Amino acid sequence: MATRIDGKTLAAKVKAQVAEEAAKLPRQPGLAVVLVGEDPASQVYVRGKEADCGGCAIRSFPYRLPAETTQRELLDLIEKLNRDPAVDGILVQLPLPEPLEEAAVIAAIAPEKDVDCFHPFNVGELMIGEKGFYPCTPASVMRLLAEYGVELSGKSCVIVGRSNIVGKPLAMLMLRENATVTICHTKTEYLKKECSRADILISAAGQAGLITGDMVKEGAVVVDVAVNRRADGTLCGDVVFEEAAGRASYITPVPGGVGPLTRAMLMKNTLYAAVIHGK
Ligand code: GUN
Repeated sequence: MATRIDGKTLAAKVKAQVAEEAAKLPRQPGLAVVLVGEDPASQVYVRGKEADCGGCAIRSFPYRLPAETTQRELLDLIEKLNRDPAVDGILVQLPLPEPLEEAAVIAAIAPEKDVDCFHPFNVGELMIGEKGFYPCTPASVMRLLAEYGVELSGKSCVIVGRSNIVGKPLAMLMLRENATVTICHTKTEYLKKECSRADILISAAGQAGLITGDMVKEGAVVVDVAVNRRADGTLCGDVVFEEAAGRASYITPVPGGVGPLTRAMLMKNTLYAAVIHGK
């Protein structure tokens, strides 16, 4: 039976470290969290992020805008936050309501305040650079693997999902650690075959039940990034947990795996932003 990877405990440790470092800075780090509209899932995420700030000695600047907000109004707010010296990080919760244009909004955030690491400059840095922001979810996956001593060099890592938020940036971080990376997606012809040769299998597809036990190689490390809601309201990932846990060496639960640490990584990025602003 696989060892359960505990993201909650590690998240608490990372947040405590952030709080300690933040308290040493000459000025309290600040994170602006912008939510446009009333998407219920986004409201929950945003409240969680603001609560994390409180526990990390980070000041939060909440902005709640109506769904009818225009592109110009949103860009004006971002420009104001870009100029505000008390704001170290800016997070615009996605998805944005239509017809707002996400790409233009992300590009308007000053790269040095882009704690999500979504700005094209930071995405480029992630690909070819050596320092800068790490996007929160991929950073969380990498930290969990490191914490449990999972060696990546030379290993076969298969990522299911090619999003800009998870799949693509995670592939870059794994490549940096000398993994052999395969990205699978909805058009992948032989998904089971690809997955079953993975030493490290990451699922970020957002499809409950997608990864069954027979897709997991004996002794593989399984990381489930997805958060899906069942009909009864409970949460689950993409992986059929009990089946996969019977074959894997390590496995992340949902909830309690990648998710809590992702939020902690946002706090870490805000601290990093405050440190670079102080220089
Ligand atoms: N929506 C879903 N995940 C994220 C995230 O990591 N950052 C932002 N800004 N929006 C999201």
